[in-house]
Parts: sequence; C-alpha cells; structure tokens
Amino acid sequence: MLSLSHNLKNQLQEALEKAFPEAVASAKKSDSPLEATLVATGKEEFGDFQVNSCFQLAKTLRKSPRDIALEIVKYLNMDPDFSEMCDPPKIAGPGFINITISKDQLIKEIRSRLTDKRLGIPFEDSSKDIEKLKPVIIDFSSPNIAKEMHVGHLRSTIIGDSLARIFEFRGYKVLRLNHVGDWGTQFGMLISHLKEVAPEALTDPNAFEISDLVKFYKEAKKRFDEDENFQDISRKEVIKLQNKDIESLNAWNLLCEQSRREFEKIYERLDINIQERGESFYNPFLKQVINDLEKDKLLVTDDGAKCIFLVDKDQNQNNLPPVIVQKRDGGFNYATTDLAAIRYRFRNSPEGDGASRLIYVTDSGQSSHFNGVFQVAKRAEWIPKGCRMEHVPFGLVLGEDGKKLKTRSGETIKLSDLLDEAIKKAKSDIRQRLQKEEREESETFIEKVGKTIGIAAVKYADLSQNRTTDYQFSYKKMLSLQGNTAPYLLYAVVRIAGIIRKGDNIQVSLREITFNEDKEWSLLRQILKLDEVIIEVEEELLPNRLCTYLFELSQIFNRFYDQMPVLKAEEPYRSSRLVLCRLTADTLKLGLSLLGINTLERM
Ligand code: ARG
Repeated sequence: MLSLSHNLKNQLQEALEKAFPEAVASAKKSDSPLEATLVATGKEEFGDFQVNSCFQLAKTLRKSPRDIALEIVKYLNMDPDFSEMCDPPKIAGPGFINITISKDQLIKEIRSRLTDKRLGIPFEDSSKDIEKLKPVIIDFSSPNIAKEMHVGHLRSTIIGDSLARIFEFRGYKVLRLNHVGDWGTQFGMLISHLKEVAPEALTDPNAFEISDLVKFYKEAKKRFDEDENFQDISRKEVIKLQNKDIESLNAWNLLCEQSRREFEKIYERLDINIQERGESFYNPFLKQVINDLEKDKLLVTDDGAKCIFLVDKDQNQNNLPPVIVQKRDGGFNYATTDLAAIRYRFRNSPEGDGASRLIYVTDSGQSSHFNGVFQVAKRAEWIPKGCRMEHVPFGLVLGEDGKKLKTRSGETIKLSDLLDEAIKKAKSDIRQRLQKEEREESETFIEKVGKTIGIAAVKYADLSQNRTTDYQFSYKKMLSLQGNTAPYLLYAVVRIAGIIRKGDNIQVSLREITFNEDKEWSLLRQILKLDEVIIEVEEELLPNRLCTYLFELSQIFNRFYDQMPVLKAEEPYRSSRLVLCRLTADTLKLGLSLLGINTLERM
C-alpha cells in the first residue's frame, strides 16, 4: 500500500518517535524497530496511517497494547506539530492507532505542489553530500556486435532507461552504460570467415547491411563448430586482435561501427541516451582480475581451467557450476569481463568509476551468471562499504501464441519492424477514431500522434508488467484505449488539457482552495502519493509500480470528472477543482516522462 506523501510520513515518524520515548527506546533495542510499524492503510475508514507497534511493545513492556496505544496518543495530542498535521488519532480494536492527515494539512500540501516543479519528489543534492557524487551505474541494453538487437535487448533498453530517468530526477549522478558484446572468440570467427568469403566487408563500411553480417556470423559459427582447422585459424585471429594487429583492429572497428549505426537508429527512435563501453574496454584489466583472485586464494585449477567454486551462506561449497575465469586455452570469457567491470566500476578514479550502486538489467536467464560474479566480487573484497550491486532480471517476451516472439515465418523479429508496426497500427486506430468522431485532422497531426502513441504503447506495455514475469506482446492490447495502457493514460492527459484550455485561469486566490466532496479528497490523496511511489521504485527497481500508480490516478480522476461539475461549478469550487485537474495532469506528465514516454496536448 502506498502511503500518502513520503514527506508527511517522515514527519509523522518523527512525531511518533518523540511521543513515547520510553516505548520507542525499548522497541529500538528489540529486533523490530518502531519505524517499520507506521504503515499506510488500505481503507479510508482506518485513516491514512496506522501504527501497530503497540502489540510488539506490549511484550517488551508487559502492558496491554491498548494501554500503550492510549499512552502514545496522549503524547501525540500534546505535540503541537502533530496536532497541526493530523486529526486527533483514534484507537481501534485491541491497540491499533489510526491517524488521519487533517484537511487543512492536505490542502497545504496541495498548494505547495502548485509551485513545485518536482511535485514533492525529494532531490538528493550531491553538492551537500560527497557520498552522493558517487555515480549509480545502470548497465542496460547491451546488444552484441555483428548480431541483431532482439526483443530481450529492447526490454532491457526500456526498463534501464526508465530506471536511469528516475535516478537522474532524484538527483543522483547516473552512468548509463552500454556493455556491448564486442570482444571474444566470435570476432576471430567472423573476421576469418569474412576474409575468405567477403573481404570487402572488412574494408568498406557500406559493402554490407547488418543483416548480411548476421548471416555471415551464423555461417562462421557453423564452420567453427564443425571444422577444427577453422577453429585454429579463428583463435589465431583473436590473438592477432588482442595483440592490436593493425589489419585485424581495422576490420574489428569497421564491424563495430556498422552495428553501432544500427543500434543508434533504434536508440534515436526510442529517445534513449546511453554511453557505449563495451566488453573490449575491460580487456586491459582481465589479467589483474586473475592476479587478484589468485592472491586471495580463490582460484582453483580444474581440468586446466581457472575457476572459483561458489559457496552457500554457511561458506560451504554448493553444487552450482563454478565461475570459470580462464579457459584451458588461456582465453578469458564473459564472466571474466564482468568481474573486471565490477572491479573497475567500484574503484575510485582515475582507474575506475567510484560508483555507489551497480544495476544490471538483463533477462532472468543470466541470473546465475550474475549471482556467480557478484559472489566472487564480494569474496575478493572489491565492494566498498555501503555500496551494492543488483541484477534486475526480466522475463521473456512472448508472442500471442504464448511462445517466444517470432515473425510469422519463424524468424526473430527486427526491432525496427516491430516499432514500425506499432506506429502503423496506432495511425490506423487514429483514423478510425477521427472518422467516428467526425473530426478532420491533417496528415502531419496523424503522423505525429501515431508515432507518439505507437512508441508509448510499446514502452508502456513493457514497463507496466511486473518485469520478473514473461510478458505477452500484443499490439491490440497495448494500443487499446481501455485498461492499463499508454493510450488510456495519454488520453487522460489530453482530456485534462482540454478542460484547462476551456477553464482558462484559476480565479480564486490559492488561499481559498477548498473541497467538500469525497471524490475530491480521494483524488487529492492519490496526487500526494507520487513521491512515495518514486522512492519505492528507486528501492525496488520495479517501474511497474509507477505505472500502476499512474493508471489508478487516471481512474480516480475520470471518476471525479464524470461525477462532478468542474467548469460549471460555483467558485471557489470551480477553481479548487481546476487545481486538482492541473495537478493530475502535471503528475501524469511527470510520471510518464520518468518512464520515457512523451505526452500530447491533443490526440
Ligand atoms: N551482451 C549481453 C547479451 O546480449 C548482455 C550484457 C549485460 N551486461 C553485462 N555487464 N553482462 O546478453
């Protein structure tokens, strides 16, 4: 349950801690601290917050929960700050304390939102706290060179970008890193193969399309798996590359450049800002990783390969496959690079990023990989105190048949085709709607609105799912004007924009804002929950929470607007309701922008 305003909750917490020093002091000594027990209530009849710590305290203090509740309430009532913010608290049941924020306080909060561009979301000011200067690194998107970017990468891109936007808005320094797969045996294979079958690909950047490269890559892989001689040639090619042989390096650069151009097109369409720092960047640090691990006596040589066996929480070796950091032939792999990356990202500059938090957005198929490298990094003591690493896994993108998303002929879907299709369908929906409403609009209008809705629908469909589950990709569902979809939210913004256009300015002075209906109070309360949901997403890295919040806000708004006159209401209600309309629109716009979604004034 979301609580009403993060800020109000913090203030209440303080009042509560002041209210009953003795009780709080003893509660703090026990394992369950008092702060955990100020919870948002689900039902209006219980007020906005409930304190249920009296039950735990009862044990420690050997008194009845109700007596403790009475005592806390007595102190709360004596606190002028508390009394200004809340109605007198009520004791319910055997010892719950129900707290309702007073109407005056709610109006005060709403008024302050009107002049606050951040709508109450706190700002982590790094100029005041040097710890906050440490960047949060979000490793996302991360497609592979000479391969196509697929729907999994799309999902990572959309989720990662939204998390980055939220952290940035909160005031953190964010490093958005594209850990592209641009190193390893695959380049040896590809370059060796191209040298034979299409040497022009290695010198002329325009000789082939990316899809041709993908084809060449598949051929090379097949040869590699079947032909020992070719394996040998490929390995030698990798070594040449690693030794910075100029011809190999040029060829490699060219392949990277070509893929990069393709990726850029997608990023531009999705309005994604990301810095490329591929696997190759960490190449110079791989030997250091091995040395460090050797020094820490974590390395074991098993069948010629250097690896680390994983342990469970009691430090006993578990049955999971070990993390292999150097293969028998001396080559390094994916895990070695990720270890080098962790080490680099936490080390202070100039040999590192000095990060405070690492966030990896990939499909859940890589969970055991991250589990392994995180454990190795911890045991090697590369994680500074107070810093953390998290894997943000997500499920598969499925087609409407419930199987992995494919084209009708069974091939992987090209992302550019997928976006084109969403836009095309959005445009045809608009045309139908215009016809029904007997509206005339220009082609440029349809073009612009179609693009915005199409892209928004794809992004929102992805973000609104709990990312840990697989999600079914359906153009029809994501483009529907009904339900938890981008068009539904965009439409709410448009609807309010219309009201505000007609309602011109707010005519009463802000001091006269006043409400007298339940629907108004519900809407107001929902508006005030924005800061809480943002803090929650920052903690739990689940953007779908923000989506649910925005969807509920639109629903509550629609209920309010359907049942209550706004433009035709008497003053001061007319202006007061317009204030709620404007704040609803501002909240939706800000929330959607943090999801990477643009809004429209008309659609
Ligand atoms: N290139 C990888 C893939 O396509 C994703 C990389 C994720 N990031 C990382 N640091 N391992 O699956």
